[in-house]
Amino acid sequence: MTPDLPRLVGEAWAFRARVEVDAALRFARLASTIAEFDPDSPAIALMRRAAEDEQRHAALCAALSASYGVPVDTSPGGSSDIAPPGLSRRQAVLYEVVAACCITETESVATLATLLEEQAEPRVRTVLHEIARDEVIHGKMGWAHLAREAALLDVSFLARWIPVMLAGTIDEGLFSNARSAAEPDGLLRHGVLPHARKREVFVQTLLEVVFPGLDTYGVDSGPARSWLTERQAGGAAPAGA
Ligand SMILES: [Fe+2]
Ligand SMILES: [Fe+2]
Repeated sequence: MTPDLPRLVGEAWAFRARVEVDAALRFARLASTIAEFDPDSPAIALMRRAAEDEQRHAALCAALSASYGVPVDTSPGGSSDIAPPGLSRRQAVLYEVVAACCITETESVATLATLLEEQAEPRVRTVLHEIARDEVIHGKMGWAHLAREAALLDVSFLARWIPVMLAGTIDEGLFSNARSAAEPDGLLRHGVLPHARKREVFVQTLLEVVFPGLDTYGVDSGPARSWLTERQAGGAAPAGA
C-alpha cells in the first residue's frame, strides 16, 4: 500500500460509519412519525428494521475504519429533520424519505454493486455484501412509501426540492476533476471508489433509476435534470428555487 492509502481508506470507512449512525436515527424517527398519520403503513415496520440494519452497518464500517488505523466514534448524535420549513408534517416526512431512501439508498446500492464487481479484499467484500443486501431493501422501502403517498396526495411539490436533496447528497468536489490526480492506486481493493468512478456511478444511477422513478410517481424530474446538467457543465448555480 502507498503510505497515504490506509489513511484515505480508513477515513472513507469512518465517514460511512457516521452516515450509517445518522441513518439509524433517521429511520427510527421516521417510523414513529409515519405511525402518527398512517398507522397501517408497511413503511413503519420496514423503517424500524432498517434502523437496526444501519446500526449493524455502522459497527461493520467502524471496525473496518479502525483496522486501517482510523478509529471512529459511532455513538449516536442527533438526527435532525432535513426538510425545509413550510411543509406539512406529512410532506416533511415524504421529503426525508425521498432524500434518504429514493436518492441516498438507491445511490448506495449502485456504489456497493460497483464495488462488488471489483476484486476487493475478502474482509472488505464481506462487509460490502452484507450492507448491499440491506440497502436494496431500504431503497425499495422509500419508493414504496412514495408510491403510497402519491396515491393519496399531490406529491408534485417535491420536484423543486430534488436539486436541494441532490446537493446535500454529494460532497462538494464531486463534479470537479481536481481530486482525481491526487488519488493513490488501489482504492477499489479496499472498498472505495476513485473520484471519477464515483461521479460516473452517481450520474448513471440518477439517469437510469432515480429520475425515471420520480417521474413514475408524479414528481417531475425536470428541475433535477437541469441541476445535473449545470453541475456537469461546471456551473455553480445554487440548488433549488
Ligand atoms: Fe446502511
Ligand atoms: Fe440503508
